[in-house]
Amino acid sequence: MTEELLKVQVHKRQLQGDGVVVLDLIPVGGTTLPAFEAGAHVDIHIAPGLVRQYSLCSDPADNATYRLGVLKDPASRGGSTGVHDKLLEGAEVQISVPRNLFPLVTQARRSILIGGGIGITPMIAMAYALQAQGADFELHYCGRSRSRSAFLDELQSAAFADRVVTHFDDEPAEHKLDLDALLGQGQPGVHVYTCGPSGFMDWVIESASRKGYADDHIHREYFQVEVDSSGESFEVVAAKSGKSVQVAEGQTILEALGTLGIKIEVSCEQGVCGTCLCDVLEGEPDHRDVYLTDEEKEANDQILVCCSRAKSKKLVLDI
Ligand code: FES
Repeated sequence: MTEELLKVQVHKRQLQGDGVVVLDLIPVGGTTLPAFEAGAHVDIHIAPGLVRQYSLCSDPADNATYRLGVLKDPASRGGSTGVHDKLLEGAEVQISVPRNLFPLVTQARRSILIGGGIGITPMIAMAYALQAQGADFELHYCGRSRSRSAFLDELQSAAFADRVVTHFDDEPAEHKLDLDALLGQGQPGVHVYTCGPSGFMDWVIESASRKGYADDHIHREYFQVEVDSSGESFEVVAAKSGKSVQVAEGQTILEALGTLGIKIEVSCEQGVCGTCLCDVLEGEPDHRDVYLTDEEKEANDQILVCCSRAKSKKLVLDI
């Protein structure tokens, strides 16, 4: 299946905070872009073989522009540096149509949005959407310091500015986020959304669980995950060709299949996007991704080969 791609142009580019580039993308050869839901992301095809996902942070009601913010990551494997270096004003680039793995729950009684650092991006789109619905919500933006943080001007001038609360590490203690007080006791209809560095998200998720929030009331979007390739070696069989290979400790299934000349389409290579999903015919996966739901993981009939491993000695994949 060939993915539908959109050609867009960088209409405006701004550097904000410490190392965040904010890009406004407009359609090439048209005036409107496909509608998107708050929480959605697009894949940016930065260079051949280099595709990365970034959340849309513009107002979902605006179908003329997609906005996104990209933090330059010193440990970048080419994604964020490629965006910073190549996507200058006027540059054209291909992107996927928006996909939403982080949707808002409609009809929530109250929504608590908690973004850490660049994890604020999907929250901004959510705030626009909730404001347009007249919904009850708060947006909490946590970061190291005001001067290093992007999007502050936009948040301060937005129609929902009075619902935005900032928490910066270098500001007086009374501005620190008191998560327990903010969350209160979990109640039906009160939903928490978080995105940010994984330690920050773990803190929010654990706090919400401890305060009695049901799992389906805690929503998360990982944008960076460390791939853990440790664990014993196992055999992977590619059923269609009958070829098999041993996946060594420290190696991914993807890499091992590559030695057989079997190529799987990938994007994030971190278990976030779902691009490398394969069906499992036999064996028990050791799921290490953040893409599949808990139920999907329990079914053990699919695996993300960029990061997950096997609990069984052998895994047979439908490839
Ligand atoms: S390539 Fe993104 S989950 Fe594997």
